[in-house]
Formats: sequence, C-alpha cells, structure tokens
Amino acid sequence: RIAGPCGLVLFGVTGDLSRKKIMPAIYDLANRGLLPPGFSMVGFARREWHDQDFAQIVHDSVKQYARTEFREEVWRQLAAGFRFVPGDFSDDVAFEHLRRTIEELDEERGTAGNHAFYLSIPPKFFGDVVRQLHEHKLASPDDGSWRRVVVEKPFGHDLTSARELNDVLDGVFPPESVFRIDHYLGKETVQNILAIRFANAMFEPLWNSNYVDHVQITMAEDIGIGGRAGYYDGIGAARDVIQNHLLQLLALVAMEEPISFDAASLVTEKLKVLSSVRLPARLDLTTARGQYDAGWSGGVKVPGFFDEEGIPADSHTETYAAVKLHIDTRRWANVPFYLRTGKRLGRRVTEVAVVFKQAPHQPFSATATEDLTHNALVIRVQPDEGMTLRFGSKVPGTAMEIRDVSMDFAYGGAFTESSPEAYERLILDVLLGDPPLFPRHAEVEASWKILDPVLEHWARRGKPDAYPSGTWGPASADKMLVRDGRSWRRP
Ligand code: BG6
Repeated sequence: RIAGPCGLVLFGVTGDLSRKKIMPAIYDLANRGLLPPGFSMVGFARREWHDQDFAQIVHDSVKQYARTEFREEVWRQLAAGFRFVPGDFSDDVAFEHLRRTIEELDEERGTAGNHAFYLSIPPKFFGDVVRQLHEHKLASPDDGSWRRVVVEKPFGHDLTSARELNDVLDGVFPPESVFRIDHYLGKETVQNILAIRFANAMFEPLWNSNYVDHVQITMAEDIGIGGRAGYYDGIGAARDVIQNHLLQLLALVAMEEPISFDAASLVTEKLKVLSSVRLPARLDLTTARGQYDAGWSGGVKVPGFFDEEGIPADSHTETYAAVKLHIDTRRWANVPFYLRTGKRLGRRVTEVAVVFKQAPHQPFSATATEDLTHNALVIRVQPDEGMTLRFGSKVPGTAMEIRDVSMDFAYGGAFTESSPEAYERLILDVLLGDPPLFPRHAEVEASWKILDPVLEHWARRGKPDAYPSGTWGPASADKMLVRDGRSWRRP
C-alpha cells in the first residue's frame, strides 16, 4: 500500500502534535518508501518564516521523534517538497498564496492536485479555515483530483458543539473526505480486537451475558498534564479520552460481527452499540472523578495538579474519571462495562479485561478453591502488547488446591514484524483515502450523547475528589465497584 501522487497542507505547524507525531510520521512513511517520490508538505502558520525555516522545524522534530533511522537521501528528497505559507486564518491573501503554492507544487512535484488539509489546530478555528478553503476554491476541485480534511479531537465540548463542528465540516467537504483522527484506532493492538473476536472460534461463543460477568476498560497514565494546562483545563479526562478512545474500545469489544470490514459496515455496528449504551440511574454512585495531588511516580516526587503551571486554584477539571455503563442488547443485558482513565496513576497501561462469571457448579471444596478468582481475558493494548488468559489450575502437590494461573501471548515473542506507529498508519490511510479507522460524524455524536448527562451531573457537584499521584485514583472509584461486589484490576 503506497500512496499515489499527493501532498499535505499542515495547519498548526508549531503545535506539540505536529512536532511530536505528524512530522516524524511523515518522515517515517517516506523512509519506508510509502510516500510518492514527489510528495509535498506545506506549512501554514502566523510566522514570518521562509521555506527553509519550516524545513528546519521539521528537521528538528524528525531528529528527535522519528522512529526510523535518519537517512540523508530520504530527507533531501522529502524536504525538497516543503513550502511555507505565512498568514493567519482570516487572511485572504495568505489563502490565495496557498492556492498558488499548491498549483506550483502540482507542476514541480507532480502532486496532481491531490492534497489533504490537516487541521492540527484548536477546533474553534476549524470554521475559519474550512470556510477559507471553500472560498478560495481549495476544497472541491472539479478536475477529478481529491481534497481531504483531517481533524483532531476534541470533536466538540458536548453534543451541541460537536453537531456545530460537524455541520461546519460537512458543509464544505463530503463525508467521505472528512477524516477524524482517533489515534487509538491506529494502534495495532486495538485493530487486533476485531481479529481476536472474529477470526477465531473459541472466544465468540463466550462473549455474551451468559458467560461474561463484566468488562473493565482501563487507560492509565503515569504522566501528569505537564505543559498542557492550556488544553487540558476545562476539558478533563472524560472529554479528553473517554468520549473518543475509551468509547471506541467499548464499541469494538461489544459490537456484532460486521458484514465486511469496510468503513460503512464497521460504522453500522459500532453505532448500534453506542446507541444502545445506557447510563445507570444513580450517577452519584456509578461515576467517580478525581484530581491528582502531589505524590510519587517511578521513585520521583511529582507535583499535584494545582502546582502545575496554568491551573487556576478553583479548577474543577478532573484528571481521573470512571463511569459504569450498560449496553441494552440481548448480548450484553446485565453486563456492566466499567471505564476508567487517569493521569498520574500507578503505571502507564491500557487494557481491556473481559471478566467471566464463575463456574455454574464447583465440584471442588470451598477451601480448595479459595484462591481461585474469576476467569479473565485481558487484551493488553499497551505497553507490553499482547493478551493474557487467566484461569484456575491445580497447585502441584498431594492436596487438591486450585489457584489462578495465566497463559500469555506477547507481540514481541510471537511476531518478528514491528508495528507501525498509530500516526503513520492513519496518515497513510488518509493519503490512500481508506476510511475504516476513522470515526464518523454519527459515532462522535452518539458518544457525546452518552457523556453529556455525566458531565452535567459533575458540573453540579463541585470539586472532584483528590488522589495522591502514583495511586490508582480516588477512593470513590473503588467504592463504586465495591458496591457492585467487584473490584478494579491492579494491572
Ligand atoms: C491523547 C490525550 O489523545 O492521548 C492525552 O489527549 C493522552 O491526554 C494521550 O496523554 C495518550 O496517548 P497514548 O497513545 O500514549 O496512550
């Protein structure tokens, strides 16, 4: 899969995401031979830069963050297609300049009129940029070439703003030309959820309310919000990752088998799940949120949320969030899905744990099985990618005693192939026009419909609970599961 003639226009070249993810991914794709030889990249920003200044920024980012080795000849060929257009988003002259630059690149580099506009900018500017692209005839060429737009989350702040945003994008670009990035869908281990479920015979028969007790989806980070107060404050953990990454994981774990793996079939099935999600009635007992205090992380003393630069003393932004959800379908009736995420937790780990019911009859004595817990299948998304199956086994010896053991699949041990970085995979898919890994308009709105009542409930409740850095979140989150006779896994 190699992209045909094309180029990329990057808005927001000075942002973190551009430097740490997008630019290095472009270089890595070029280095792997997956970009066309005449590929071009135009940077657009409010800076007095020339092409060489932009090339220098990309160079520094590639040197620091690219995953493949630096090869001078690859770099030279790639950098020959870099251009910079200075201006702000309301500047007509700059967008005319952009149009001319694209036409010149089509001539010089053979990009054939095919360009993706990557909006790595705050969503409040999406409208301005998209309108300018439309007005300057950049959005919909009539010569058979393609134009696509790529947007990053947050896809709105709630359902209403998400709808407004979608209307802005859909007003200018046809739905199949809008690519919403949820980088979790670009992860190898996330795509593998569908392979595990639907390529095998042995999991799917158990994958329902007859056998599954509950499901836990965890995305824990050990880092704090670092220098991202400007983005994070007012957004919080639920909007930052539950609305997108965690609900996408839930959809993949819970959906029915799609009739094919094309985008339309996947969206149909994911949407059915998201539309069947129901919140419990008592949100005070079935959700939890917290803010990290100072504490320890990896043996190092770390500051609390309120010591981070840019966080106001009265901030109610949560850095930890947990919710319990039901899915009202025959398959999942009475099987709760518990989702949790947080910054500055005990360690960095993302996993999906499918926890099974206990055996319907236990022929062994209560003492023989006192160390036996629930069987579980744990999909380890990261780090330490793989899967663990936990079940009971006889402890060697003369007595009958049964204890948990686990069987393990690790990517490193099973495959010699390496996984592409999520951004590489997703950017390549944009350039190829391959949409299955990008959430659609309707999915985004369905996710906000789930989350809006929780956010409104929290908004009425004042300040989140505190938890020390390096622990597993506030006590209220533990109580939430204890009430159901369950407990969070300690990954
Ligand atoms: C981003 C969030 O989407 O995902 C960040 O905005 C978070 O807050 C990041 O740190 C985590 O990504 P990953 O791939 O390291 O799990």
